[in-house]
Amino acid sequence: MFAAVRLRALADAVGEDDPSFREEVSFTAAQWRRRLRDHAQFAALLEERPVGLIGAQYENAEAVYLYSLWLDPAVRGRGLAHSLVTAAVDWAGECRVRTVKLRVAADNMAARGVYEDLGFTISHDEDHRRDGELMMSLSVR
Ligand SMILES: CC(C)(COP(=O)(O)OP(=O)(O)OC[C@H]1O[C@@H](n2cnc3c(N)ncnc32)[C@H](O)[C@@H]1OP(=O)(O)O)[C@@H](O)C(=O)NCCC(=O)NCCS
Repeated sequence: MFAAVRLRALADAVGEDDPSFREEVSFTAAQWRRRLRDHAQFAALLEERPVGLIGAQYENAEAVYLYSLWLDPAVRGRGLAHSLVTAAVDWAGECRVRTVKLRVAADNMAARGVYEDLGFTISHDEDHRRDGELMMSLSVR
């Protein structure tokens, strides 16, 4: 189930020609299991069908890093992203870290709207910075 929704998300968000799609589409079952062991994954379900995903990586005792927030285009605009990110932030709180971090394209107003609504603010941490992207963070402790 995770592999299928992750590949749908990648195909929609970055396209099937993107290196990350091409790499993951050929993952073995063992590689998918390793991904699920290494990172927490949260899915949004609608009538038991997975329609959204977000990944959360425990970086260290200080921070959890969120990545690859995605909702099926058919279910956008209903506030589902808010609950999905909240689930990942709650998990970070249970991990007892201080901060939740993520990267977002500066012009992705829908994603920024979700994060800002939850209290994320733009941070100036250089660790994960790339062109055209902002780092955002939220204190959870
Ligand atoms: C990012 C994503 C999960 C957001 O889900 P969504 O259902 O589209 O988000 P919503 O419709 O709930 O919008 C979130 C907020 O942004 C606002 N918003 C949406 N589109 C906007 C736009 N083009 N300009 C300004 N604000 C916008 C909404 O009004 C809402 O704010 P509100 O809660 O104060 O009303 C979804 O668009 C998606 O999967 N996009 C493709 C993948 C992606 O970009 N992921 C983010 C990686 S960091």
